Amino acid sequence: MIENNGSDADGPLEEGALTLTDSRTGADYRLDIEHGAVRAAGLGQVRANSEDPGLAAYDPAFKNTAACISRITYIDGDKGILRYRGYPIEQLAEGASYLDIAWLILNGELPTPAESASWRAEITGLQAVPDPLPRMLDGFNEDGHPMAMFIALLSGLGAQHPDSKNVTDAGCRAFHIKRLIGAAPTLAAMTYRRGKGLAPVAPDEDLSFPANFLRMVFGEDAHIDPTLERAMDVLFILHADHEQNCSTSAMRGVGSSHADPYSSAAAASAALYGPLHGGANEAVLKMLTEIGSKDRVNDFLKEVKSGSRRLMGFGHRVYKSYDPRAKIIKRTAYEVFEVTGRNPKIDIALELERIALQEDYFIRRRLYPNVDFYSGIIYEALGFPVGLFPVLFAVPRMSGWLAQWQEMLEDPEQKIARPKQLYLGYDERPVPAG
Ligand code: ACO
Repeated sequence: MIENNGSDADGPLEEGALTLTDSRTGADYRLDIEHGAVRAAGLGQVRANSEDPGLAAYDPAFKNTAACISRITYIDGDKGILRYRGYPIEQLAEGASYLDIAWLILNGELPTPAESASWRAEITGLQAVPDPLPRMLDGFNEDGHPMAMFIALLSGLGAQHPDSKNVTDAGCRAFHIKRLIGAAPTLAAMTYRRGKGLAPVAPDEDLSFPANFLRMVFGEDAHIDPTLERAMDVLFILHADHEQNCSTSAMRGVGSSHADPYSSAAAASAALYGPLHGGANEAVLKMLTEIGSKDRVNDFLKEVKSGSRRLMGFGHRVYKSYDPRAKIIKRTAYEVFEVTGRNPKIDIALELERIALQEDYFIRRRLYPNVDFYSGIIYEALGFPVGLFPVLFAVPRMSGWLAQWQEMLEDPEQKIARPKQLYLGYDERPVPAG
């Protein structure tokens, strides 16, 4: 039986049950179906004999296992739908600010104007990072990967906040959620500046969240064009949450041991770093650079179809149609180009998409552009180096990770995450003598 808290947003309970007959014993079992799922624990009742620990579900990579009940983000991968707290991503990306969306994701409703103003003031007041952290960066080579530095800085910031270990205290959690959302762009900008051998730029509380970020990256004297400021905010909104992806699962998994949120966010960032997840935008840019021109697209796709490499920025575990975020990013790219000039890589990307979407290989596997296919092209046009791309993803995803972490800690059903295994190794055997 899956608990329903009676909220309207959950919709009516699905009636029904799965009936099973165990061919080993002839015994019949009934598993209630609720919200399109059966409880795996119910399978544990299915035993061949009294010694049998009970049936387990085997699901490598969690392809068909729900590990939690969540009320934050909804995705319909077949229809290309993404909603935060019920609101379509297309509408949120139209007019809202990232900070308001972070509030929405964390609290369930859009903020009132008063809530929005005080939330913004609280976050901007928590953007500066203490002195030892910039010095931590000196331990990294200038050519060190910005994501590696970002992960380390998150741990370092956690060391500055030992009280954050008090994860069962709601007030304490609320403070550190704000601290992490506020500090994330500051730490991200510091990694960029370390790569250039430049000193960090202190946050400016009078600027908007995205404008302050751009200034902390490009320097006090940088001109922040309003179109680019808005594009940055839209990119932040699109990346804020994406339900139980690899990094969010890492956040929940590590957080389930009651590790502090800085350590959990560092673990989530490490998961995001991988080229199959948030590192894909970096891989896309490298791929576009390698392809070099539109006339090489066909040869490249031949290699992909032969299975020797992947078309980075294509395919998704959940989306089996066009990722709605990719559509918005593609549109935003043209707005950015109005200011920065056209990034020629867009033409290679458009040609890759055009041909791939007609090819049987991609059609049969339902592979479409994902969020990372066009984001790197905008980031490059904005002047960010490729290595910073996954860090740019982590800055807004911080709010999603923290909302999911909080939801996990408040869910009485959640315990320390600990999957089962099917052991197929040796049975007991003696260590050879001598
Ligand atoms: N290029 C070529 N073939 C692909 C691609 C791709 N990008 N993605 C999947 N396939 C093929 C696989 O080879 C496989 O083919 P097969 O059935 O002949 O063996 C089939 O499509 C299914 O692929 P899986 O790897 O089983 O799908 P999965 O759901 O495990 O992987 C993933 C999803 C990791 C995103 C994958 O599509 C991929 O590697 N894409 C490229 C990396 C990327 O863009 N990642 C960003 C995802 S969005 C995000 O994390 C923010």
